[in-house]
Amino acid sequence: MTEIARAADFLRAGELVAFPTETVYGLGADARNPHAIARIFAAKGRPADHPLIVHLPDASHLERWAIDIPAAAGRLAAALWPGPLTLILKRHPDVPDAVTGGQDTVGLRVPDHPLALQLLREFGGGVAAPSANRFGRVSPTTAAHVREELGDAVAMIVDGGPCAVGIESTILDLSGTEVRILRPGMLDAKAIATVLGYVPEFGGAQNAPRVSGSLEAHYAPGTELQLVAAADLAATAQRGLADGRRIAVLAAPPFASEPPGIVWFPASADPVRFAHDLYANLRELDALGRDLILVAAPPDEEAWRAVSDRLRRAAAGSK
Ligand code: TXA
Ligand code: MG
Repeated sequence: MTEIARAADFLRAGELVAFPTETVYGLGADARNPHAIARIFAAKGRPADHPLIVHLPDASHLERWAIDIPAAAGRLAAALWPGPLTLILKRHPDVPDAVTGGQDTVGLRVPDHPLALQLLREFGGGVAAPSANRFGRVSPTTAAHVREELGDAVAMIVDGGPCAVGIESTILDLSGTEVRILRPGMLDAKAIATVLGYVPEFGGAQNAPRVSGSLEAHYAPGTELQLVAAADLAATAQRGLADGRRIAVLAAPPFASEPPGIVWFPASADPVRFAHDLYANLRELDALGRDLILVAAPPDEEAWRAVSDRLRRAAAGSK
């Protein structure tokens, strides 16, 4: 039996299977099985009212999970799936409450990873999968990250190597009167605009569905993390040292005046590369066990929006 066939069997048996996607690793369960879904929430320590994304083998499955699907959703799916885009649509009545957190909408996406697609096709249905990390912590981008954090909770981890994108999918809400971006991702806003004919607004409308990724504190390492303007970095690091704190810095070169006693992680000046490395860097920085992680704030540019969003939340969530 192939590894993927075994993984699909575990899903059918109501077990948890962690699998790679192009964004981050997912903690998967049969989206039609409330008992399997309950295992996801238990493993993550996630509040039960936070909805999950259902991963589909292809867009032809949309009608089994959503109703009143607007034409724009079909166009987005045709143009951008498989890809790092989640569509929020009105839920089909057969979708278990456990998946939607009791809301009248459901999040759907077709991931762009060969092993994820093989697994979804072999399983033949929807797989509910949040990022395979404990609630509020940094998302995993390698199988080893999943093993460290949730190894005991899963029947199997499908290893697909490091994730190509590195941060979570863009979430687009198409369940209301206007399309909105609930969570920025690395999907080019231009790609969305090309399909829709306009760039949607960011942020949820009033009474918008709950998004745990929109909590102020999220994606956080255990070490205190501060975002600092690049120009203030060296001085801030010096002050920390003077206060007797052990400091680690994540910044693009040149971090010219690298003072002695400070660990410097060179970060990429390219947003795509920075995103790819971000969560692995945060895990490594955290593992150093320093007192403070200083991160150079990225430029205030569209290409950095998703990275800046995750860094802000990591700072808010760190102790
Ligand atoms: O890239 C990704 O999206 C990864 C991979 C594994 O696919 N998944 C992921 O799942 O990031 P998770 O659960 O960590 O984050 C999904 C976000 C959550 O913030 C959740 O609240 C939101 O999607 N979400 C899911 N269903 C929703 C709905 N019906 N309405 C609003 N937000 C929803
Ligand atoms: Mg997550």
